[in-house]
Amino acid sequence: MILVLDFGSQYTQLIARRVREQHVYCEIHPFNVAPAKIRALTPEGIILSGGPASVYAEGAPLPNRAVLDLGVPVLGICYGMGVLNLFAGGAVARAAQREYGSARIMVHDASDLFADLRLGPEGLGVWMSHGDRMESLPPGWTVLAASTNSPIAACRDGTGRLFGLQFHPEVAHTEQGTTMLRNFLFRVCHAEPSWTMENFVGREVEKIRATAGDARVICALSGGVDSAVTAAIIDRAVGDRLTCVFVDNGVLRANEATRVAAAFRGRFGARLRVVDASARFLAALAGVEDPEEKRRAIGRAFIEVFEAEARAIPGVAFLAQGTLYPDVIESVSFKGPSATIKSHHNVGGLPERMALRLIEPLRELFKDEVRDLGRLLDVPDEILGRQPFPGPGLAIRILGAVTPERLATLRAVDTIVVGEVKARGLYRELWQAFAVLLPVKTVGVMGDERTYENVVAIRAVESVDGMTADWARLPYDLLATLSSRIINEVAGVNRVVYDVSSKPPATIEWE
Ligand code: XMP
Repeated sequence: MILVLDFGSQYTQLIARRVREQHVYCEIHPFNVAPAKIRALTPEGIILSGGPASVYAEGAPLPNRAVLDLGVPVLGICYGMGVLNLFAGGAVARAAQREYGSARIMVHDASDLFADLRLGPEGLGVWMSHGDRMESLPPGWTVLAASTNSPIAACRDGTGRLFGLQFHPEVAHTEQGTTMLRNFLFRVCHAEPSWTMENFVGREVEKIRATAGDARVICALSGGVDSAVTAAIIDRAVGDRLTCVFVDNGVLRANEATRVAAAFRGRFGARLRVVDASARFLAALAGVEDPEEKRRAIGRAFIEVFEAEARAIPGVAFLAQGTLYPDVIESVSFKGPSATIKSHHNVGGLPERMALRLIEPLRELFKDEVRDLGRLLDVPDEILGRQPFPGPGLAIRILGAVTPERLATLRAVDTIVVGEVKARGLYRELWQAFAVLLPVKTVGVMGDERTYENVVAIRAVESVDGMTADWARLPYDLLATLSSRIINEVAGVNRVVYDVSSKPPATIEWE
């Protein structure tokens, strides 16, 4: 395995994903993880991530020096290079100008990290993002590549075990960055490319069987990717002893419950319980306008409904949850504002209340790996390719109080938006595309009549992880079609607006 020590770079998770794409298992740990713990992980190599600090700043995050003495290769990227350099006795200085963006490097030594690269006379385009730069080489070190602004853009120590890169090989803007990472993994660390979802399934299924024993496992299906793949792998492991519960909370999209039931019925048969609890949720939401209060009301109702279901199934001892690796990583990275600005509800609290033990088979996986795993487990493509949909559903897309009438309006609009986006082949490119019903009425004219009706906002964003997002530049004619279809077909809407806010400072959902 490869260990990534996190110094807070926005690219830390990307490094880990790039390593895993090469089928080498990789974990992220905080920069100050104890050397004993590192030894226990028996890494074949260590990557020190970038980070926002300066290695010379007071309180700068520094790993235990013993990390360099474990005898395994270490690759320091950006800030991580500064750490290696500092420990080895070189000089790092604040560069006169922060270097951010594209630069070109000339490779001087292509024997290991830069082997197998296609190199032209104009060098390689790389992505820089740093304020410090190396001013001098520690004794015994060699320069491997240089750029105009960074005479030491890449270097190696005398033993051939420690490497520093001033730029980011993990980002797509760095040409042939993957080859550099591959060189580190396979030429330098001699790692085995054995991390595949095929191997993962086998191991994980054994683990689930050993954990669950003869007990029953219950899993809440949401219709999304994570819970579907969780259910599929538990099903592979314990078969008949898995029961899945899908709760219709009344704030789902049009026909959602029927579609999810249809997608899973074949697989789970009677072991899929579809509970229509919409009346209960809508009662809990009646008159609630505050977004966080809506989330709490839905969260509470969900736990009550789910608990009642679970109690009706004899012998349940485990609750399966689709927690992913990004939720698990204990790191110094900036997590984005969503985690604290909106309380995301899940089945939190239930395991303790019901004395259920948790099984989280996806804890080690990134989202793209979950999709690969889902394909391997024959989860329908229509589920795997789905855009994220929030747990509190349409309730947080109806600004103000949620009523059956407003739900019906938004459902009709949502169906048009998703349908048109799919028809244009844009559904999979976009992180999310949806509609929001505003608590605003405006004047319009239809035929010869004055109207006074609702406004709907369309939101479409591009994103890689939902932490940051940019509004999508949807084609004007798509926006035109959406607007005219919505106003013509959905009674009660006479105006459509397009949301052109990025995250940050806006969030993706309006509430
Ligand atoms: P925001 O609105 O915080 O959303 O930019 C980021 C991502 O999270 C989804 N989201 C939620 N998911 N429960 C969920 O399960 C929630 O309460 C919730 N709020 C937002 C949102 O759809 C986007 O993909």
